[in-house]
Amino acid sequence: MSALHEPAARSTARVIDGKATASRVLEWVTARASELERAGTRPGIAVVIVGDDPASKVYVASKARAAEACGFHSVTHRLPDQTAQADLLALVMRLNGDPAIHGILVQLPLPGHLDAAAVIGAVSPAKDVDGFHALNAGRLWSGGLSDAFVPCTPAGAMLLVEQVHGRDLSGLEAVVVGRSNIVGKPMAALLLAANATVAVAHSRTRDLRDVCRRADILVAAVGRPGLIGGDWIKPGATVIDIGINRVPAPELGEGRSRLVGDVDYPATLGVAGAVTPVPGGVGPMTIAMLMANTLSSAARTAGMPSSPFVAGADAQRNEGW
Ligand code: GUN
Repeated sequence: MSALHEPAARSTARVIDGKATASRVLEWVTARASELERAGTRPGIAVVIVGDDPASKVYVASKARAAEACGFHSVTHRLPDQTAQADLLALVMRLNGDPAIHGILVQLPLPGHLDAAAVIGAVSPAKDVDGFHALNAGRLWSGGLSDAFVPCTPAGAMLLVEQVHGRDLSGLEAVVVGRSNIVGKPMAALLLAANATVAVAHSRTRDLRDVCRRADILVAAVGRPGLIGGDWIKPGATVIDIGINRVPAPELGEGRSRLVGDVDYPATLGVAGAVTPVPGGVGPMTIAMLMANTLSSAARTAGMPSSPFVAGADAQRNEGW
């Protein structure tokens, strides 16, 4: 066969290992936590879960395990599904005033009768390690990155972007698909702060595929399994898949399921320059950044000013990545 008729060699994207990155961040946090404890402040985190959502129970248990592994004081408050708004707010207020607690996380979603926005607004901005309070969101958007608690998932995703492109994204086009307060919007703010040219696309975007194809950095955060196909991706782009979707997997046996992202991963491998897998990409970074945020909060109360976002980034840079 002449060279002309040989099939084009398919490149294989670099797979960004979020699990390894997260362990290094956690190692760094554990070492700093032990120094802080020797100086008299043991970082403390309180996680609140209301009701019996099975996925939330798994997440909360992982957060508590990670906190203990980092040497933190860790408390989990499990409240019944029918908890009244006033009782939940009273618990948040008590935690706001508890000097042993530096980070408060109320697991979302809350049961439908509860007002999540009011609960988020009741968490002290100084203990808001989720970065969901309007004050922290405002700091993030107005360039106060060194003061803001940044939501953990986009903060972790940003560290993975940094591994490929460094800290300065000047001249690069980034597209974030998804506009949630927890992921899409803060991710856009972080990319913008790093000098990328940013578009936020969503379910009402016209020609979504064409918008995605412009991206040097494509971030998917919509919760639709496999939405983003290989032909949505610019050759050589960096693809950050934040979706975590459980889908039936009859090939693994009856009733079995598996996790997939928002991106068609096998198709992406042949087109992208770098890609995060699901599981093992952004997922493990969320908990690592929650620990980094809690450490920073404790350091601040101990009079050792520490930027939560920079703490995570330092963990990465100090390791010489
Ligand atoms: N539910 C899903 N992700 C999160 C998160 O990062 N924080 C909280 N509080 N709830 C969540």
